[in-house]
Amino acid sequence: YPLRRPEEMNWSFAGPFGHWDVGQLQRGYKVYREVCAACHSMNFVAFRNLEDLGYSEEQVSTLAAEFTVQDGPDSSGEMFDRPATGSDYFPAPYPNPEAAAAANNGAVPPDLSLIAKARAVERGFPTFVFDIFTQYSEAGPDYLHALLTGYGEEPPEGTELMSGTYYNPYFISSSALAMPQPIYEDQVEYPDGAPQTVEQYSRDVTAFLMWAAEPHLTERKATGFVTMIFLIAFAVLMFFVKRRVWAGTP
Ligand code: HEM
Repeated sequence: YPLRRPEEMNWSFAGPFGHWDVGQLQRGYKVYREVCAACHSMNFVAFRNLEDLGYSEEQVSTLAAEFTVQDGPDSSGEMFDRPATGSDYFPAPYPNPEAAAAANNGAVPPDLSLIAKARAVERGFPTFVFDIFTQYSEAGPDYLHALLTGYGEEPPEGTELMSGTYYNPYFISSSALAMPQPIYEDQVEYPDGAPQTVEQYSRDVTAFLMWAAEPHLTERKATGFVTMIFLIAFAVLMFFVKRRVWAGTP
C-alpha cells in the first residue's frame, strides 16, 4: 500500500529555540510506564536520567523501585532479582527475544530508547531538500504520533491481514503490524488535568520518547545557535582583517 504520510505536529522541542515541556515529559513517562513498558524495553536509558524530567533523587529511587532487575551472581553463584535503583537501566519485560516473540505473535517489540530518531518518513519534494541541511528531527516524533493514533480504520476492501497483525496505514513497512492498538481513552490517569485522550497520550509519550532518544537536544540547539552567531561575527571580523592586511597591495 502507499505509505500514509504522518501529520506534521507542533512540538515544543522543534526549531532553533526548541525546549522541553517538563509537564508533558512527566505525563509521557507515566504513559510509558503504565502502557508501553509492559512489552517494550528502553535499555539505553538509566533511571537516574529521569532527574532531567524534574524528579528529585528520592522520587527517582521510588520510580526505579517499581521495576525489578536481575543482579548477581551472589556469594553462592546464583543470579537474583532486586528492585531497580537510580543507576540501573530500564529492563526488558521479557527474559529474551524468543520469549518476547512468543508473547507477541512472532514479532519482537523493539527497544524504545532510540526509536524517535530511528524512524522517519521522508516529506518529499521540496521540503526534503531543506531537511538534509536542518536535520529535520521532528520526522520521527511525527511518525510515532501518527502510528499511535492511526489504529481503528478498516483495511481497504479485499485486503486480508496476516493473522496476529493489526491494520495501521502509517506503519513504516507494511500497513499492518504485530502491535495492537496500545492505548485507549482514559487508560492513564493524569494528575494535572490534561485531557485523557488517545491524541494527548500519543503526543506526551512521543515527546517523552524524543527526550529518551536525544536528552540533550535543547542544549545542542542552544549551543548551535550561539555558534552560528559567533561564526557570523567572526566572518565579518575576518573580512575587515583581510582588507586591512592586504590594503595597498597592487
Ligand atoms: C512496535 C511504540 C505499547 C507491542 C512498536 C514500534 C513503536 C512502538 C514505535 C515500532 C513500529 C515500527 O517499527 O515502525 C509503542 C508505544 C507504546 C507501545 C509508544 C505505548 C504507548 C506496546 C504494547 C505492546 C506492544 C503494550 C504489547 C501488547 C509491540 C510489538 C511491536 C511493536 C509486538 C512490533 C510490531 C511489528 O514489527 O510488527 N511499538 N508501543 N507495544 N510494539 Fe509497541
